[in-house]
Amino acid sequence: MAGCGGDTSCSSGSCGSKDAGIAQQDMAIASSLGRIKNKLLVMSGKGGVGKSTVSVNLALGLANRGYKVGLMDVDLHGPDICRMLNLTDRLQDANVKQGGLLPPMTYGENLKVISLEYMMENRDDPIIWRGPLKVQAIRQFIADLDWGDLDYLIIDAPPGTGDEPLSVAQNIKDAKAVVVTTPQEIALADVRKSLNFCKHVKMEVVGMVENMSGFVCPHCNKTSEIFKSGGGEKTARDFDLKFLGKIPVDPKVVVAGDDGAPYLSSANVSPAITAFSEIVDNVEKICGKQKVSLAMAGSGSDCGCGGTCNPETCDC
Ligand SMILES: Nc1ncnc2c1ncn2[C@@H]1O[C@H](COP(=O)(O)OP(=O)(O)O)[C@@H](O)[C@H]1O
Ligand SMILES: [Mg+2]
Ligand SMILES: [Zn+2]
Repeated sequence: MAGCGGDTSCSSGSCGSKDAGIAQQDMAIASSLGRIKNKLLVMSGKGGVGKSTVSVNLALGLANRGYKVGLMDVDLHGPDICRMLNLTDRLQDANVKQGGLLPPMTYGENLKVISLEYMMENRDDPIIWRGPLKVQAIRQFIADLDWGDLDYLIIDAPPGTGDEPLSVAQNIKDAKAVVVTTPQEIALADVRKSLNFCKHVKMEVVGMVENMSGFVCPHCNKTSEIFKSGGGEKTARDFDLKFLGKIPVDPKVVVAGDDGAPYLSSANVSPAITAFSEIVDNVEKICGKQKVSLAMAGSGSDCGCGGTCNPETCDC
């Protein structure tokens, strides 16, 4: 890990190396983030609404479209991402190059993944964290991993507005939020807290996703609104936010999450798959379609409008 990192081995701070370590880590964070175009924090007011499911499928949907994507699991108490992608790698000593950046796990060609589980000896060990350690872990995820050039970094946060989202807001100044909710009133009350948190820390909100919105019966194709429907859309309107889409309840999503075969990799078309790809469409539209790999080629001529546009703002 880079420098002393302001870590516990230098707790007094009196030697000056703590400050130096933090300054060095700040530089490493800035350098890592400078190569990442869009940073999206997936948040929700409460747990179990499908945040990790949305994070994984959004990351995968973007990667499938050729974007370079990073997926960072900062749900330090309940990291789920490895299980959902069936990633069983463990960080080996051999991977840790002295002073160099650590390799994240990879899933296919375009997706890089980091989760605390990757760093742990035993995945079933309970993790006991104090706030400052969580902040430090998140800073190291950014500073010490070899993310390279990315179009998107998707960050899966634990529910609520605790240390992890706050740490993301403080360390990734241009992170934007994707807020996930379920349609019932109780979940919406919590989501309003998330939206107020974003306002408070001045984090822009890309938009809202309504998950578990209706159930499409696989037998007769009729929709039943188990948890009601449309509440997320209404909240988005009330807060003047974009609505990114509704995902129905689909038993295949559960199976996919448990088996480590993410939903979007399934070849079958279903209402939930269509819903996920509409959300990816909307995120793409809002964040811009210019890929970093093309931007690296150094010319605007890859742009559909003939290279006369500003690729940052052009929608072509
Ligand atoms: N649209 C959906 N249809 C069916 N099950 C879903 C859907 N979205 C999420 N789930 C399931 O609900 C559970 C909680 O989802 P998860 O993504 O882990 O939520 P969170 O990260 O917000 O706690 C998981 O078992 C997941 O497979
Ligand atoms: Mg989760
Ligand atoms: Zn039916």
